[in-house]
Amino acid sequence: MNMPAASAKHVAIIMDGNGRWAKKRMLPRAVGHQRGVEAVRRLVRGAREFGLEALTIYAFSTENWQRPEEEVSDLMGLMKKFIISDLEEMAENDIRLRIIGDYKAFSADVVKLIEDALARTAGNSGTILAVALNYGSLDEIARAAARAAQAGAITADSIEAHLDTAELPPLDLLIRTSGEVRLSNFLLWQAAYAELYFTDVLWPDFTADHLKQALEEFSGRERRYGGR
Ligand code: FPP
Repeated sequence: MNMPAASAKHVAIIMDGNGRWAKKRMLPRAVGHQRGVEAVRRLVRGAREFGLEALTIYAFSTENWQRPEEEVSDLMGLMKKFIISDLEEMAENDIRLRIIGDYKAFSADVVKLIEDALARTAGNSGTILAVALNYGSLDEIARAAARAAQAGAITADSIEAHLDTAELPPLDLLIRTSGEVRLSNFLLWQAAYAELYFTDVLWPDFTADHLKQALEEFSGRERRYGGR
């Protein structure tokens, strides 16, 4: 089944390299994460501009709890600040916020901010911004399989229907920044037929132009889905 070159509808990003960006400049890691949030802002604007249906970003993994307490707390603080400062712009620009992962494990004030933001953008119909929070793919697949079993059918279709991403379009393109070449427990199921794109750019340096380059490369690739 050869598919003609098409534009990507759903792009996911592993935003890696904040720490190395800061280290190169002898700055604290927290500054790297702050600059990472600015890159997220550019990316969301780019996603709208390039007409993406969905953008999924890996903001906090189930493994990130193992980082030093101060860094976890910096990341939580940035998340809160981002929701407070950017929610209005997202709401006005028809962005629909979604969360994948078990965000209810976060502190009550973060959960409340997230739920208010979800409610505020629920009626929108534009680009979906899916933020992975306390997300791990193995955990997601196990939860989905358990629910599929409860529903009486452990098949690929029924597991897929119970994934956190069930309401998102199929994943077309998965990008990882900073030169690392692995999936790190992100969207393993969804990546079955996605195109993978790795770049050496560190996340805080990532711009809408970098996204455009990745989208252009995607459009030039031939997707065969196992056929020939
Ligand atoms: C990887 O860099 C990045 C993260 C673990 C977190 C990503 C989070 C943000 C960009 C900010 C918060 C997001 C939102 C939506 C407000 P790293 O620290 O692993 O970098 P390193 O591998 O160079 O050390």
